[in-house]
Amino acid sequence: MRLSAASTMDTERMGSEDWAELQRNLEATIPVYDRINRFATFGQDKRWRKMVRSRLPIEGKILEVGCGPGTFAEMIPDRDLTCLDPIPAMLSVAEKRVNSQRETPAKFVEATAEEMPFEDASFDGVCSLFSFRDWYDKRAGLNEVKRVLKPGGKVVIVDPAKMNRVHGWLGYMWMRVWVGAYARYICKMSDHPWKWLTKTYVHFGTTKDYVKMLKECGFTDVKAKVVFPGMATIWSATKPNE
Ligand SMILES: C[S@@+](CC[C@H](N)C(=O)[O-])C[C@H]1O[C@@H](n2cnc3c(N)ncnc32)[C@H](O)[C@@H]1O
Repeated sequence: MRLSAASTMDTERMGSEDWAELQRNLEATIPVYDRINRFATFGQDKRWRKMVRSRLPIEGKILEVGCGPGTFAEMIPDRDLTCLDPIPAMLSVAEKRVNSQRETPAKFVEATAEEMPFEDASFDGVCSLFSFRDWYDKRAGLNEVKRVLKPGGKVVIVDPAKMNRVHGWLGYMWMRVWVGAYARYICKMSDHPWKWLTKTYVHFGTTKDYVKMLKECGFTDVKAKVVFPGMATIWSATKPNE
């Protein structure tokens, strides 16, 4: 694993200690993951997931990076699907949930975005929903995504939006106060793991930062849309035909 040893977090990277603690906290969210997501986004996350689905290529092999407990994967039961996540507990919850609804089972793979165990040009579409901000090396992850995409293949990413500093501050307050209170009082999790949602958001870059990164990684047709009500961005980009 090419994790940096230091406990640092910025718009591109996260140190090994922070990433390990984030992973422990993400694992602790499994029982309440969907409930808190729905609450935190006023139910909009489902609409954003549908927008991701509609942007994926209509044919061919799809890879979801950071599949978590399978919330998006279960929405594409008829696609040739591979789900990747570094947390074994996430994969086992996702596998039961997703494959119980499919005729042809999806594949579940334990790995990270930064080091994917797939051949070059394996997939027609790659998506990542609410996971990109958790990648410990976003540029390395995007380069890997490009490597495993077929020429002409498409990547679609959704994660919280941050248009500028003021918007970022509003997003921070939203997560800290609203989502934090829900986790503490409704889900009765005192030292709740959702505080990491706020932490990764604080260090996450702006919508434009990742448009620039996608272009620098060699993607073309790079687009970003901040979706209603300004809480999420959907990025999409294409691997050029060589
Ligand atoms: C919030 S969950 C996303 C769940 C799901 N994609 C959804 O639609 O809601 C984020 C997931 O990203 C995974 N993750 C964290 N770091 C990662 C990395 N470096 N590479 C791939 N996945 C990662 C976590 O293990 C976690 O399961």
